[in-house]
Amino acid sequence: MMSLAAIATLICGGQVGSGSPPPTWAHPVREIMQTHCVSCHHTNGPAPFSLARYEDVAPRAAFVAEVTSQHIMPPWLPRPGEVELRDHRGLSPQELAALQAWAASGHLNGDDKTTARVPETKVQEVDLVLTMPEAWTVPAEGDVNWGRRDRDKWTFVLPILNEAPLRVQSIVHRCSAPRAVHAVTYLADDTGAALWNDQRDDIVGSYMTGDVRDHSSGQCGGTGVGSRVCRLPQGYHWLIPPHSDLVMEVHFRPTGRPHELRESVGLVFATDEESRPVRSLLSMVRRVDIPAGESQRVADEYVIPEDVEAIGALPRALGVCVSIRIAADIPGEGEVVLLDVPDYDPHWRLPYMFESPRYLPAGTIVRTTWQIENTEDNHRNPFLPVERLSMARRTGAVSSLLYVAAEGPESDTRLQEWQADAMRMRTH
Ligand code: HEC
Repeated sequence: MMSLAAIATLICGGQVGSGSPPPTWAHPVREIMQTHCVSCHHTNGPAPFSLARYEDVAPRAAFVAEVTSQHIMPPWLPRPGEVELRDHRGLSPQELAALQAWAASGHLNGDDKTTARVPETKVQEVDLVLTMPEAWTVPAEGDVNWGRRDRDKWTFVLPILNEAPLRVQSIVHRCSAPRAVHAVTYLADDTGAALWNDQRDDIVGSYMTGDVRDHSSGQCGGTGVGSRVCRLPQGYHWLIPPHSDLVMEVHFRPTGRPHELRESVGLVFATDEESRPVRSLLSMVRRVDIPAGESQRVADEYVIPEDVEAIGALPRALGVCVSIRIAADIPGEGEVVLLDVPDYDPHWRLPYMFESPRYLPAGTIVRTTWQIENTEDNHRNPFLPVERLSMARRTGAVSSLLYVAAEGPESDTRLQEWQADAMRMRTH
């Protein structure tokens, strides 16, 4: 624990005089809550309590200092790496120190009655809204397997009925049960397979992954707790073929009471004529087989066949996987870590977009590693009591997607053909 004087030095950049005021709600605590916390911690938000008012935060001052200094809150999985990530959540050393000092010095108010404003949740203008045809209920607790095994997901199919291809720059998820819904991933299906599967019974949606054949859910991005908008950078879009359905894989965490779910998804179209389609390159290990109590590091690599811009990446794995790392070995340049998640938690999973697109020339080797711990000590292990873990899936027992854009239409076509061939090789 730092001494108060040391903390004060940090906050004031070393210029501590006897007159330097202790931190108060008026400054800077309210602003810190506003910038970093209330997006989730507001009434009806995904977090269990609000942190908008002084009366909410003061009784929790020590708890807030603790969870922030341990980097538990705000939740953000990737470790800072060589590639900067957009919409990064995190506190500066000064902000962390201010929260510590505020707790240690009696969480003063500073004569400020105002509350931290919830950031503009202004209804974003969308071009098309898709809504679940009927509601589905997230059970209060579910059956014995709920939240264990991997039975915490449900997949819904939202018909788009588009005659022409759509170029989608952002996906906006209007979540009807923010506390019960965590990671969501999207895929555009023009084969009808997902809808056929959904319509085999009378229940809306199905207990399946959102993968369709060899295509991995997440090919049109994803949203998660506190980040219900998935936005591609200007100049890029997801391409939705004519007559598609939007397939939405939704993961839950039951809260002890049932939640009625009627999700809607807004699509914002790209306006830039020159905008380029984003494709997903899949890294995966098709099958894992790990004895009870053991750990395994599994890896996959491929060589990118065309020059591309890498836009972002999405890790996909259950909680039995404790870390994921995606690195690019660039010809003539060496290894660049694209995404490093040392303490993976599927609850906070998001697609991570790069601050600026990263050029990867043809010949770049993309290497992904997953650390899987099939042990009792892995506190996120959904497979308890531990037994032999044997999982196989067409699109990978563990996987990740790298979002890339080719430099032109011919190159894009070759990239897609290469990806389809690679999938055929892997699944047959
Ligand atoms: C992305 C959403 C999000 C953001 C941003 C966020 N929280 Fe949380 N917070 C949660 C959720 C959800 C929980 C409930 C625990 C869980 O789901 O693991 C939580 C729990 C907590 C808890 C209780 C911890 C516990 O172990 O139960 C504290 C304290 C907390 N948050 C403080 C903060 C503070 C302070 C900030 C800002 C610096 C912050 N949170 C930012 C979503 C968020």
